Amino acid sequence: MKKILITGGAGYIGSHTAVVLAEAGLIPVILDDLSNSSETVLGRLEEIIGSKPIFYKGDCNDRAIYEEITKEHEISGVIHFAAFKAVGESTQLPLKYYQNNIGSLLVLLDFMQEKGIKDIVFSSSCTVYGQPDVLPVTESTPRKDAESPYGNTKKVCEDVLVDFVTSKPGIRAISLRYFNPVGAHPSAKIGELPNGTPNNLIPYITQTAAGIREKITVFGDDYDTPDGSCIRDFIHVMDLADAHMKALEYLSQQEMDFYDVFNVGTGNGNTVLEVINTFEKVNDLKLNYEIGPRRAGDVIKIWADTQKINSVLGWQPSYSLEDSMRDSWNWQKGLK
Ligand code: UD1
Repeated sequence: MKKILITGGAGYIGSHTAVVLAEAGLIPVILDDLSNSSETVLGRLEEIIGSKPIFYKGDCNDRAIYEEITKEHEISGVIHFAAFKAVGESTQLPLKYYQNNIGSLLVLLDFMQEKGIKDIVFSSSCTVYGQPDVLPVTESTPRKDAESPYGNTKKVCEDVLVDFVTSKPGIRAISLRYFNPVGAHPSAKIGELPNGTPNNLIPYITQTAAGIREKITVFGDDYDTPDGSCIRDFIHVMDLADAHMKALEYLSQQEMDFYDVFNVGTGNGNTVLEVINTFEKVNDLKLNYEIGPRRAGDVIKIWADTQKINSVLGWQPSYSLEDSMRDSWNWQKGLK
């Protein structure tokens, strides 16, 4: 059975992807520094997939950890999730973001080339489109200047992959541009575990419903959208995880020195207020929310054109927004 290295595999998207890979008969090898995740995830993964995942605690900038892993396991591909992702913090500590997010990709690619590991799937983000002029965004929609150092690291990493593949290193790479990942594994054993006060919408909603936060503020209701709140494309994390499996399969069929990029979204935009209403409806509860001022740097509206991933990777989302809101809440309720 093929072993796939998952950097950041104890994190939100990484842990769900480990499940999908294991269920497809691959062996996930998780590397994570646990800086924004917990070791308890490994036990939860064991409950879901029936065996303890192979785990290394380590820094993805540290070449020695890759040496150690490949001494013990034959790795046939890598999914590189590990990165810092707090937009606000990245404006305060830009070097931390450039060092970690770009540095780790450089170390990893160099190592892969040396060891002959061919395939890499990279976690990019729809943040590379900035404030788009035309919707929905396709993969050929021009990228814009990043709004934050965090966003810029995603752009630069995409560029690194393009330049590296152009140099013919004998590698095949895909960048997946994630829209807004939401939901949790339907078992509620794994989900999103933000450190401290959440920045993102869904953990803020679920923590408010759980009474951990007093109320949630909707950042602006005077935008040019049907109800005035921002629009995003919310994609269930299990569908997103499945896209990684499809990307790996597709890479394995390509010639060497291949690179491509895919949007991973549902193709539907929903407003923040629609999300709140859906959450209330499917979970039969009332959320304490208020309308507040706009958040600086927010994208007003964005959703994906998904034709490319649908036709080329044969990937379709199978979870609805209702499913996502139900699974997010079930996950939150199970947290102590
Ligand atoms: C944000 C980042 C994006 C990054 C992603 C990673 C910005 C502008 N974008 O995406 O670059 O890839 O996180 O996690 O920071 N909202 C509220 N109240 C809240 C929280 C959020 O109304 O308490 C609204 C926001 O204004 C936004 C929507 O919910 O309209 C989604 O916000 P969020 O979950 O933070 O994601 P993004 O802004 O899309």
